Amino acid sequence: MIDLTGQVALVTGAARGIGRAVAETLAEAGAAVVVSDVARQVDGVTYGLATDDDLTATVAAIEAAGGRAVAVHADVRRDADLDRAVRTAVDEFGRLDHVVANAGIASWPESTWQATSEQWETMIDVVLTGTWRTVRAAVPAILAGGRGGSIVFMGSTAAVKPLPTIGHYAAAKSGLVGLLKSLALELAGDSVRVNMVHPGGTGTEMTQNPAAEHWQATAKGVDGALALPMPIHRMETVDVAHAVRWLCSDEARYLTGTEMVLDAGATLR
Ligand SMILES: NC(=O)c1ccc[n+]([C@@H]2O[C@H](COP(=O)([O-])OP(=O)(O)OC[C@H]3O[C@@H](n4cnc5c(N)ncnc54)[C@H](O)[C@@H]3O)[C@@H](O)[C@H]2O)c1
Repeated sequence: MIDLTGQVALVTGAARGIGRAVAETLAEAGAAVVVSDVARQVDGVTYGLATDDDLTATVAAIEAAGGRAVAVHADVRRDADLDRAVRTAVDEFGRLDHVVANAGIASWPESTWQATSEQWETMIDVVLTGTWRTVRAAVPAILAGGRGGSIVFMGSTAAVKPLPTIGHYAAAKSGLVGLLKSLALELAGDSVRVNMVHPGGTGTEMTQNPAAEHWQATAKGVDGALALPMPIHRMETVDVAHAVRWLCSDEARYLTGTEMVLDAGATLR
């Protein structure tokens, strides 16, 4: 059984979806969790992002199950927010051991080359630069603990297999692979591991909203590319959370710099 008792995790984008499942799963294993999310609309995103109520509900669910959690409003585009999230981990729970850089957005241009500058820049800012900012804020606190730790990036099968029209999303997620490898090498001597999960289609509000459904129904080749060889339509958030929990655990203590493709076989064909 994975036991994270006495450890502290920060999860971004944790008010709902995969991030919420990760926060709940880490807390179930005994970790105290800083649940952070922008919990506001981001300009240019055409589906609703998480709300204050979602953020509160995540903490309430963890506490109802006997876990420890605290909510922090943090936009991964803002260094000051991330510094506050890290300070909260140290002030409330005494340390920081794990960071799950999960916050993300989606948008669906007509084609990759027709993406607007706003779609491109917001995607890179949230997904790629936001992950780097999260790491920059968190690493000093992990190192100060002096007992190693782990960082998990939320990738996507879009970084593994081409999907039509969302090259901006694929570029941001693929950029994380390079970031992952440099960081893993730099932090290995301090026993801080850096790994990445590439989920395939998972049932969340990012994939189940009118704009996403329109894209799936109309963009040429999407249907086939997203089809899962295993007999399910979509994975559940908890499936991704279990992989993240394992990556944070001692069972993965020498695993670093790796990409785990978790997609019910979608990238096999
Ligand atoms: N659902 C899928 O099929 C799927 C597949 C592959 C990868 N992913 C990735 O998983 C992660 C979680 O996505 P999800 O499917 O749970 O979607 P989701 O929309 O339910 O969750 C994303 C969360 O990130 C938050 N967020 C957005 N912008 C933010 C910002 N600037 N700062 C802080 N928080 C912000 C949102 O409020 C939301 O709570 C994303 O990185 C996404 O790219 C999802």
